[in-house]
Amino acid sequence: MASLPTDAQSILSLAARSLFDVFANASEGMLLVDRSGRVVWINDHYRRYLPALGFEREADFVGKPVVEVVQNTLMNQVMETGKPILIDLLSNRAGTFLVSRFPLRDELGLVIGALGVVLFDQPETNLQPLMAKFALMQRELDEARKAGGGQRQARHSFASFVGGSAVVADLKRQARRAAQSSSPVLLLGETGTGKELLAHAIHASSPRARGPLVSVNIAAVPETLLEAEFFGVAPGAYTGADRKGRDGKFKLADGGTLFLDEIGDMPLGLQAKLLRALQEGEIEPLGSNRLVPFDARVIAATSRDLVKLVHEGQFREDLFYRLNVLPLRVPSLRDRAVDIPALVEVLSEELAWRSALPQPEFQSEAIALLAAQHWRGNVRELRNVIEQLLLRCDTGIIDAATVETVLLASGLSQIKPVQRGAVDVPQLMPAVADGVALGSEVSVRLSERIRALELQAVQDALKKTQGNKLAAAKLLGISRAKLYQCLA
Ligand SMILES: Nc1ncnc2c1ncn2[C@@H]1O[C@H](COP(=O)(O)OP(=O)(O)OP(=O)(O)O)[C@@H](O)[C@H]1O
Ligand SMILES: [Mg+2]
Repeated sequence: MASLPTDAQSILSLAARSLFDVFANASEGMLLVDRSGRVVWINDHYRRYLPALGFEREADFVGKPVVEVVQNTLMNQVMETGKPILIDLLSNRAGTFLVSRFPLRDELGLVIGALGVVLFDQPETNLQPLMAKFALMQRELDEARKAGGGQRQARHSFASFVGGSAVVADLKRQARRAAQSSSPVLLLGETGTGKELLAHAIHASSPRARGPLVSVNIAAVPETLLEAEFFGVAPGAYTGADRKGRDGKFKLADGGTLFLDEIGDMPLGLQAKLLRALQEGEIEPLGSNRLVPFDARVIAATSRDLVKLVHEGQFREDLFYRLNVLPLRVPSLRDRAVDIPALVEVLSEELAWRSALPQPEFQSEAIALLAAQHWRGNVRELRNVIEQLLLRCDTGIIDAATVETVLLASGLSQIKPVQRGAVDVPQLMPAVADGVALGSEVSVRLSERIRALELQAVQDALKKTQGNKLAAAKLLGISRAKLYQCLA
């Protein structure tokens, strides 16, 4: 095996030769022009552009002034200025090309020719992933700018919480009311049900919306650091980095909202201090003997069973009551399967937009299959499955077989077949119920179809009236009792 030469000159010429070989092989074509501006050489790759440039034979092209045979070329400019044009778009009768142009010099440094390289032809398609990524970054930047304060602002409003089911309409109504109060809110619900999203929405529609929203994920902060994280550190309390003191989250949330996520994971020792802070409206930074008032509205969330933790002695009863002033129960996806078609629509749109992919169309059987699952991880799990479906989908259409494959691969849920019984089908939109019927010989019973239609109409009306049942009933020309009957 030959080893690298030892003198710099040989290494440089080896590097130059290797670079040239890389360009010659990886590029779409190369062309050399002499001092007088005539084409003196083209490589094999370049030859295929000749017909599009209007030449049948290489001999008619090589030897001619480059300005005559390649329209819009800037090879002469490179030779005149002696400066390379590293990246440029060249458009002419043969198409649009991403090109590079380099001057060639003799030993004395005089320009004796120029090398032109076609890096890509059809950049609009070949560079599409790059362009798409750029467009996406641009959009994200725009969004971040629009959001203004960045991290410390709420990212979601109530409109981001997708769902028109009766339970969700009810939850949103309670949450809107809670937003107007300054008492603590406690968000309870299984993992992935949207508690964090709801906390953002409550902050955003509260009188404190202009203030900061500061989150602490209690489960993610080591126990030894939690106290400093919450209450801050007084100047001089420690030597070293924290000598100057540090504000805690209570202080950072001043004038805004403090979101205590995973409150069920709070160590007992700190629970007493949190309770005192909430009761007194004052905190004591670490290493200080001064009490500092704070003005932050607390929203706490947990997926754990707090009542059980209280019974087991792991959560202080007094703190539980202090936090449980406005409890909101976020329903699991199982309790609102009727929202799944809308969630699929919104989540697939958002995920496709994020990865600059076209939004696929879900066949109704595919949605029916998604709606029949148990979803232990709720919306987060559904979102993951949709993300995988997008990556797998080349055709723009997602069918039930693909859904089944992805569900199997995700390994989280046991796949449940679509139930054709009275439970699942009428809960779905009529289009979905149709889809389910397509696969079976016996069509869905008329009474079930009517129920599905009624339910859909009620949900549409509730959406229009923002969950106001009386107004929805009026809109539909039915009694409130009938409306409840449709929702049951
Ligand atoms: N109703 C909804 N509409 C749209 N997206 C939702 C909805 N609910 C949840 N999501 C999305 O699902 C994911 C999980 O939601 P979130 O983090 O708010 O759940 P969580 O209840 O806080 O879960 P955990 O208990 O595991 O922390 C997020 O990507 C969120 O945007
Ligand atoms: Mg959460």
